[in-house]
Amino acid sequence: MRRIFAYVFITATVVIIVLALTQSPLPKGPGVELVVTKCQTCHGLEYLTDSAGISREMWAETISEMEEYGMEIEPQERETILNYLATYLGPHPPSEADRSPHSSKSRNRTIDAAELYRQSCAACHQAQGEGMGRLAPPLAGNEMLLKDRRYALLVVLHGLEGEIEVGDRTFDGQMPPMAHLRDEQVAAIVNYILTAWGNDQRRPTDFAPLSPEDVTKARSESLTPQQVWEYRRKLR
Ligand code: HEC
Ligand code: HEC
Repeated sequence: MRRIFAYVFITATVVIIVLALTQSPLPKGPGVELVVTKCQTCHGLEYLTDSAGISREMWAETISEMEEYGMEIEPQERETILNYLATYLGPHPPSEADRSPHSSKSRNRTIDAAELYRQSCAACHQAQGEGMGRLAPPLAGNEMLLKDRRYALLVVLHGLEGEIEVGDRTFDGQMPPMAHLRDEQVAAIVNYILTAWGNDQRRPTDFAPLSPEDVTKARSESLTPQQVWEYRRKLR
């Protein structure tokens, strides 16, 4: 019987902790669990979020104040908590997009779309988007890209396979899916090819730039390269 009680107690505790973490109003980031556990024992986390924006020094003072109130933490824990508070509730918190799981490595790095294009696309589509013989279609002045705001995005994420015409040229190759790129990178590259090389002069004025959220959504559609080709056919 005691074992059952112990079991129920542990389960309940785990559930409460998990609930506290998932419902936590705090931004996700390294150390957030520790902050939730330590700071919630005496008052709600809204005390923390209400103070968001203060400097690292002020967070350090706040932590000392809490220690005077009786909070017990190890020096190592103090460091983790201070780093978290100064970063995520500090004067310059990372933006929502920087926090998405696909971008944890890219924190504090800005995306250079032209450079990404050079690395990921130019080998086939060439530096000025002019395409390569009969092997890769041009992206500069390619009407298909400008007919539909999402088409190029689908090609990058899911690939393309099937015979296509661009201008007076025919291609029957394969574009490999580039799904390894992170959402922000894909959004940046696609926005780049939709505006570079004079494409911005040709595209409809109501063409809103793609956001990383658009990419997340398109990624979840999991199309085959042939289905993307079908999609292209319907754009004519
Ligand atoms: C031992 C209890 C205790 C713990 C643990 C605790 N606090 Fe507090 N905290 C207090 C008390 C007491 C107040 C003061 C006033 C009140 O209740 O309005 C307070 C107030 C605050 C305030 C409001 C502004 C201020 O300086 O009074 C902030 C911000 C705050 N706490 C942050 C934290 C953070 C961050 C943690 C975790 C690292 C934490 N607290 C953990 C007891 C605690
Ligand atoms: C390995 C070569 C290769 C690479 C690398 C490559 N592509 Fe492609 N891409 C192709 C080929 C080949 C096609 C045409 C496929 C077909 O014939 O069905 C294509 C088609 C496209 C199309 C559709 C064009 C149309 O008219 O429908 C877009 C948009 C596109 N690529 C964008 C990109 C972008 C952006 C990158 C970099 C993230 C990239 N491609 C990287 C080979 C490549």
